[in-house]
Formats: sequence, structure tokens, C-alpha cells
Amino acid sequence: MSFATIDAEGPIRVVLVGAGNMGRHWLDVIAQTPEITLVGIVDLDLELAQRTVAERRLTVSVGASLAEVVNASTAQAVIDVTVPPAHHAVNTEALFLGLPVLCEKPIAPTVADALSLIAAEEVSGQLLMTSQSRRYYPALAELREFVGTLGEIGAVTTEFFKAPHFGGFRDEMDHPLLVDMAIHAFDVARYLLHADPVAVDCRTFNPSWSWYRGDAAATAVFEFADGARYTFTGSWCSPGLETSWNGSWRISGALGSATWDGEGRPTVEYVDDAGGASRPTGAAPSEGGRSEIAGALDEWVHALRTGSVPSGDVHANVFSLAMVEGAVRSAETLRRVSVDEVLDDAYAIALEAERRSDVRAALAAWGSARAHLVDQEARVAAAG
Ligand SMILES: NC(=O)c1ccc[n+]([C@@H]2O[C@H](COP(=O)([O-])OP(=O)(O)OC[C@H]3O[C@@H](n4cnc5c(N)ncnc54)[C@H](O)[C@@H]3O)[C@@H](O)[C@H]2O)c1
Repeated sequence: MSFATIDAEGPIRVVLVGAGNMGRHWLDVIAQTPEITLVGIVDLDLELAQRTVAERRLTVSVGASLAEVVNASTAQAVIDVTVPPAHHAVNTEALFLGLPVLCEKPIAPTVADALSLIAAEEVSGQLLMTSQSRRYYPALAELREFVGTLGEIGAVTTEFFKAPHFGGFRDEMDHPLLVDMAIHAFDVARYLLHADPVAVDCRTFNPSWSWYRGDAAATAVFEFADGARYTFTGSWCSPGLETSWNGSWRISGALGSATWDGEGRPTVEYVDDAGGASRPTGAAPSEGGRSEIAGALDEWVHALRTGSVPSGDVHANVFSLAMVEGAVRSAETLRRVSVDEVLDDAYAIALEAERRSDVRAALAAWGSARAHLVDQEARVAAAG
């Protein structure tokens, strides 16, 4: 796949859509990034958008309509920080206004919507990338290097136990932990293993003291094609001895194990044939790039300037979303669910639901979602 690059000199002019909690965090990071400049803010809550602009003394276009703000500001790109149910509509509108998009996770609420977005990206020729921000940590990059030295991988586990009181949309979701949080860990598991899962078995429940309407606790076991198992277990209403926001990780391989508390540096231990254990303390990770959403922003800007396909491109990210949807389906039907089943059903729904004739024609030409994704992955690999 290829997409339009931004060749014009000067900082890239961006419009931020969604001025809520995370939107304000993005505004801070945008202000610290000389490669881009903010030219507009859009929010359905116009008063919130206007207040945000006034409080920060910004001189940018403001409105409730993306098209109007884009026209008024001559924007070149969009950062979408709206609530998940709005992502598909906002991303599609931006792509067909001729603008590349960096979208907060999840890229869309369903795999079917994400497949529609893949087709929209291809038809529009504009890059659509997810900010899967928890991929961007020097310590995680070091852990990934350790994983590559452990031989065949048998098991990967994440424990995630926290007790945040958010209020708002998360309190009303059916599966707040799986849908709004676990996607970060699922995506990191794919990143660590350089692989995608083939099936999942998941059970969820809601502790009696939970302040969430939907199930706030879950255990999911994923099977990867090479036999590795990834287990995520966690709760979002678990006061006391909380884990980090990245969770607590263990990777078990044929030659040894690695652990990471999600914050500090990871630990690795190898065991030789005679049973001797060694714990090399590799060199400190290089400063590398920036962390979290700043790291995602930098990768997006690099992609827009060079044409290199970013790791969070919607084509690859759909597998993290399929892990979430497969886990939810498994929990609701109390059975093992294959990723192909999720992709096949999502493809049928996407074809049925697509409103744009050009996007529907592109989707129809795929034949199957899996075949198309494999084909696109091979093209990206061949392009280097
Ligand atoms: N990467 C992370 O660690 C992280 C952390 C928190 C939130 N998030 C993600 O950020 C996104 C936003 O979360 P939040 O906590 O800021 O939500 P929020 O409810 O505080 O803010 C969302 C804003 O989007 C606006 N909005 C909704 N639909 C819109 C539309 N169609 N057009 C324009 N504006 C619209 C709302 O009016 C609201 O102001 C979510 O996708 C969430 O999952 C990511």
C-alpha cells in the first residue's frame, strides 16, 4: 500500500478533532512538536472547543464541523481524539477531504468499521494511522530485544490490576476493560512476538463492588500460529497493589525468561544446559524516540514525510482490534473463537453496511479480509 506524502516545506498544519480529556493532552504534545502546527480545533461541544482555545490563547479556527474548520484553516492533516463511536465517521470524512489522519485507539469500535477504514485509506490514498501509544517506550524496545534471544516462546502473560474512577463513557460500556484498555496490552503482545494470534478463549465478570456497568474484569488466552500462548488477566476495579498502566509482563522461552513491570527496565535470565542461570545487564536503552503519544506523533510525521508505512497503519492495527472483538465474542458465547471467524464476519458486515459506493467496490474486490491483509502485508515487506 502507498499513500500521499506531504512535501511542502514548513510544519504540517493539523486540525485536532475532540477537545476532551485526551484532546487536551494532545494539545500539550502538539505544542512541543515543531514539525507540526495547530491550525484548528473541532468538537461537537462547540463551547468546550471555544473555551479550550480561549484558555490556551490559541489563534486557530474553531467549529463543530470538520469540513468547515479544514476549509477555514487550510489544514493538511487531522488528529482524531473523539470518542470511539465517532472514529469511523470522523476518519472517513477527513480521508475524503484529502487529509491523512492520526486517530486515537481504538481506530474504530468494530473490526467491520476498521475494514471499511482500510478500504477508505486505499481509495483516498491518504494515510490512516492509529496512535497505539503504549508501543512507544525505550524499556519496551529493550524487552522486545530480550524476547528475540529467548529461543522459542512458550508463554507471554500480562497482569493488569488498577482501580480508576473515570466517569463518562467507560462506566457505561459493555466491556470497558477489554474494549478500552486491553487493546494496548494485546497490541504490545503482537509487537513483542512479531506475530498475530489465531484464536482466543476469554471469560469476563464484574466484581460485586464494581463501579462499572459492564464487566470490568477479564482473563483471555490467545493462541499464536507458532504455538505460543498469550494470557491477559486483569481488573479495572482492583484497589491496592496496583500494577503500572502497562501491566506486569513475563515472557517464557526455551532458553530463559524475561519480566517487565511496565515502568522500569526489563529483566532477563537465561538458563544453560547445565542449569546455570545468568542475568546479563545489557547496555542501557538508547534515548531513542519520544514516549507514548509523542512517539506515535513522531512516527506519523516521519511516515507523512517519507512514505514509509508506520507500525500503527490501519492495516496492521486491525489485528489488535480483532483480538479485542474475538475476546468479547468468546466471553459472550463461552467458547474458543478464531481470528478468521472474526475477520470473515466483519468482512460480511462491512460489505453490507458500507454507505460509500467507492469504498464498497474496493471492499468487494478483496474477496476476503484475510486474503487482502496478507497480500498487503507482503507488499509492505517487499517494499522494505
Ligand atoms: N492512549 C491513551 O492512553 C488514551 C487515554 C485516554 C483516552 N484515550 C482515547 O482517546 C479518545 C478520547 O477519549 P477522552 O477520554 O478524551 O474522551 P472525552 O469524552 O473526554 O472527549 C471526547 C471529545 O470528543 C468530542 N466528540 C465526540 N464525537 C465527536 C464528533 N463526531 N466530532 C467532533 N467531536 C466529537 C466530545 O464532545 C468530547 O469533547 C478515546 O478514543 C480514548 O480511547 C487514549
